[in-house]
Amino acid sequence: MARVDGKVVFVRHALPGEVVEVSITEDTHERYARGDAVRVLEAAAGRVRPPCPVAGPGGCGGCDLQHADLPLQRELKRQIVAEQLLRLGSYEWIGDVESVPPASGLGWRTRMRYQVTMGGRLGLRAHRSHEVVELPEQGCLLAHPDQPVPGGTYEPGSEVVVAGRGRSSAVLVDGELVEGAGTIVEQAAGRTWRVSAKGFWQVHEAAADTLVDAVMAGLDPRRGETAWDLYCGVGLFAGPLVDAGVSVRGVELSRGAVREATRNVPKAKFEAGRVEQVVRRWPGRVDLVVCDPPRDGVGKAVVEQVVRREPRRIAYVACDPAALGRDVGTFAAAGYTVRSLRAFDIFPMTHHVECVAILEA
Ligand SMILES: C[S@@+](CC[C@H](N)C(=O)[O-])C[C@H]1O[C@@H](n2cnc3c(N)ncnc32)[C@H](O)[C@@H]1O
Repeated sequence: MARVDGKVVFVRHALPGEVVEVSITEDTHERYARGDAVRVLEAAAGRVRPPCPVAGPGGCGGCDLQHADLPLQRELKRQIVAEQLLRLGSYEWIGDVESVPPASGLGWRTRMRYQVTMGGRLGLRAHRSHEVVELPEQGCLLAHPDQPVPGGTYEPGSEVVVAGRGRSSAVLVDGELVEGAGTIVEQAAGRTWRVSAKGFWQVHEAAADTLVDAVMAGLDPRRGETAWDLYCGVGLFAGPLVDAGVSVRGVELSRGAVREATRNVPKAKFEAGRVEQVVRRWPGRVDLVVCDPPRDGVGKAVVEQVVRREPRRIAYVACDPAALGRDVGTFAAAGYTVRSLRAFDIFPMTHHVECVAILEA
């Protein structure tokens, strides 16, 4: 972030403390503008040459941190998590963002969403733009090496999704399956999972195991307890809880995901619907709660529903530290405070970071 004559400028591809020449890319707001660092005059320690030739100013919008080495990427994310939790949740976090293999920070994406250029080639969107940047010769460096790379040409403007990897993968063009099977088989948490090629599964190859381990260690479930898996997808957290002898109910918006969750974890009870509407109908108290909401977080209504059932512990899996900070503040006002918080680098080369917070009364 820089200031020019008192106006804030958000600068992509710069690092804190650097002196850079900025090209203004958007100046439509009174209080702030956006820019891109097109020339580095004084580089920060930790600046590196991006491994991908289309990362950087005016390039692909997917990776916004390739110009920093991985320790610096994690330090920047640590600062963001700490700042958001303090500012929005009044919680002082002392910890580091944990690295997750592969150590290169490349080749981890098991789901790719390509756009097709006007020339019919595969590309990825530029930042805050409909423009499509053609993939370099070696493809996207974040894509898992065992993912099929769709060849040939496509209808300009179409979307090509590649889900899964190796023998269990699929290619969809504008939502239609053109290669592979409609169901992807994944292995995680000592179980086999079936997930629709169109459905949600953790994108980083090690994310499912990493998050399950953090949630299970934090909740420390006891045989005979009850649990809720909120925003359950295909039942990723319900499965290991059932395996630990816990009786689980799950809720998820997508009907397809609920059908898959029921097949993946037959011993748990799943319901399709909005968390905020469904849990109010569930009876009695609950011992453990897992929340893994989308970026907006859970919000006040869900916090109220959860604390009313007096759970022993809550595991909150969050992909947006700001939403987590806000919800941590709401939980604290309702008597539940953070017992531990871990942050994981499951989106290396991008500014994204995943947290697992464990709360208790
Ligand atoms: C971050 S994903 C987590 C899925 C699952 N826990 C996993 O790790 O595979 C969030 C899920 O919440 C679901 N969702 C979004 N809004 C919802 C709502 N209001 N009520 C229930 N589920 C919702 C989405 O369909 C998505 O599957």
